[in-house]
Amino acid sequence: MFSDHTNSRSPFAFYMLQSANYISLALKMALCILLSISCRKDQVYHQVEKPTPYAITIPRFFPTTLNIPADNPMTVEGIELGRYLFYDGRLSGRTDPDSLMSCSTCHLQAHSFECGIDHPVFSGGHPFGLTGIFTPHYMLPMINLVWTNHGYLWNGKVAATNLSHSMNNLEDLTWMAIVAPHEMNGDTTKVAALFQSINGYPELFKKAFSSDQVTVKNIGRAIAQFVRTLISANSKFDRFMRGDVKLTAAERNGYVLFMTEQGGDCFHCHGGDGNPLFTTNLFYNNGKDSLFFDTGDRYSITGNTIDVGAYKAPTLRNLTFTAPYMNDGRFKTIDEVLAFYNTRLVWSPSISPLMHHIGTGGIRLSPPQLADLKSFLLTLSDSSFISNPAFSSPSKFPDEK
Ligand code: HEC
Ligand code: HEC
Repeated sequence: MFSDHTNSRSPFAFYMLQSANYISLALKMALCILLSISCRKDQVYHQVEKPTPYAITIPRFFPTTLNIPADNPMTVEGIELGRYLFYDGRLSGRTDPDSLMSCSTCHLQAHSFECGIDHPVFSGGHPFGLTGIFTPHYMLPMINLVWTNHGYLWNGKVAATNLSHSMNNLEDLTWMAIVAPHEMNGDTTKVAALFQSINGYPELFKKAFSSDQVTVKNIGRAIAQFVRTLISANSKFDRFMRGDVKLTAAERNGYVLFMTEQGGDCFHCHGGDGNPLFTTNLFYNNGKDSLFFDTGDRYSITGNTIDVGAYKAPTLRNLTFTAPYMNDGRFKTIDEVLAFYNTRLVWSPSISPLMHHIGTGGIRLSPPQLADLKSFLLTLSDSSFISNPAFSSPSKFPDEK
């Protein structure tokens, strides 16, 4: 039907049709050119705005499974922004000098991102928030957290399994720190508005997340990206594993004690040569008490009585910098910790079955053996980590440039 209709057109009409075709062809070509220019412009635009992917270099022998959520890929721009925010005291949502607080107020690089036992304000290493309320527990080091797959915090509350979807991953620690009465005691809406108004920040958000609208979600994403770069893997022990240095006889002996059940028996919970994180990141009651009063232990999360008095086994890396020890900071020195594991274990119904030496109250090593075990623990400290300029406070904030 259609072709019949065309054939019946007069030559004039045909000519008109042809020229109309030419015109429309010309128009189409023009449109194409315009489109391709604008497409290209579009592409260039996106190339400029798209953040630069950042690949974490996995140290030798470290696990290859990383905890990086699909909606927050690591980028150079995200990490840069995260570093500013981590160190910017205005994260509390206030600007007067007495009310500044950021992650770095408590998490100090010199102490493997704990506050340290010699902290001038947080005496004995127990931090408190802007209103003076103490944190429920002492600190955890902020290192190698990109390998934490079983939950953050001493009790593992912030985990993929938490039914509250605002407490699932490292990203969420930021809003939690902002609102916690024992930390910044702030207001997330005010914090976003404040950073929106600070010169330089909106542009950095645009570079990192393709939008200059400052949101608490993107603040959390940027800080999490920075925190995931805090990798410590250059201790003497790492260099020994890579074949670059030798351990002394005492260190070697301590290493064997650490790794054997008849010796120190530490490796089940704290890793070792097969697990260079020096933690399983799992939760155990390691025999400190017989009565339990803390309402923030692992039991408070799982409701399972075998978790009463259980906490995350922290990494044993960088112990030199992270006193005091345990979730309640009860031990001030490594010697005190070793004396505890040696003879002072306490039985309770929920003690971890991996505390094999409970029957004798401890591992019962001789003083020279304990000294060797300590020498080995000291090989796990990484001084290049605490002096790495990439992790330090930026010399200027975005509005000071
Ligand atoms: C007032 C001091 C203080 C401030 C400020 C603070 N933290 Fe913490 N942080 C702590 C303490 C104490 C713990 C251990 C708490 C616990 O598990 O009960 C901790 C634990 C953590 C952990 C868990 C580490 C692990 O191994 O599970 C992360 C991650 C963390 N903080 C991130 C942050 C971030 C990000 C900020 C800034 C947005 C921040 N913190 C601000 C004191 C602080
Ligand atoms: C059953 C598992 C288990 C075994 C075995 C074990 N630990 Fe622990 N360790 C833990 C847990 C859990 C904690 C944290 C407990 C707390 O904070 O209340 C801890 C804490 C520590 C700390 C304090 C770290 C810090 O940053 O506060 C050190 C040091 C330590 N252990 C060393 C050792 C040594 C050395 C051995 C072997 C002699 C050993 N552990 C055996 C589970 C274990």
